[in-house]
Amino acid sequence: MSSLHPDLEKILIPSDQIRTRVQALGQEISKDYQGRVPILLGVLKGCLVFMSDLLRSITAECSVDFICLSSYSGDRSSGVVRMILDLKESIEGKDVLIVEDIVDTGLTLAYLRDNLRTRQPRSLEICTLLDKSDCRKVSLSVKYVGFKVPNQFLVGYGLDYNEQYRNLPYVGILKRVLN
Ligand code: IMP
Repeated sequence: MSSLHPDLEKILIPSDQIRTRVQALGQEISKDYQGRVPILLGVLKGCLVFMSDLLRSITAECSVDFICLSSYSGDRSSGVVRMILDLKESIEGKDVLIVEDIVDTGLTLAYLRDNLRTRQPRSLEICTLLDKSDCRKVSLSVKYVGFKVPNQFLVGYGLDYNEQYRNLPYVGILKRVLN
């Protein structure tokens, strides 16, 4: 059992629960993509830990690429999404599965979805570890969800607050967010 970081109010999802759920997601994805070779498209940097565990739980043949978007500063979404790093390869005619750490308002992924659609992939789906579905501001279809979570600021397992806490093995609620 991991100990609670002093800056956190509590552990929301312990690491063993994450492990079990990520394994199940990997199996579901492997089954759904059998006979195809999907590109797992990680959204940096938050996807980092989730992607590496999910990838190892997928038995279907697949490839990996990354994109880096930015819309958050501290605990606030700026609402303006910027692409900092684009894909290396063309996705035309390919099956693309976006891998994200958390969907909140949905603005970031709606931007990415619309951007990727113009590149004509064969299919485009979304997999997120965490879903704050009550916070959605735009309609977004998310096919694979690890956990539905409350509207609180979460860190750990790749999620940060000002680049801190990504290395925590669990997902926890930050005590107090300074603005
Ligand atoms: P959205 O555009 O509001 O859906 O925000 C998505 C992005 O905001 C995610 O990829 C995260 O980088 C960040 N984000 C949203 N909620 C949280 C949180 O609770 N903790 C850490 N990052 C978050």
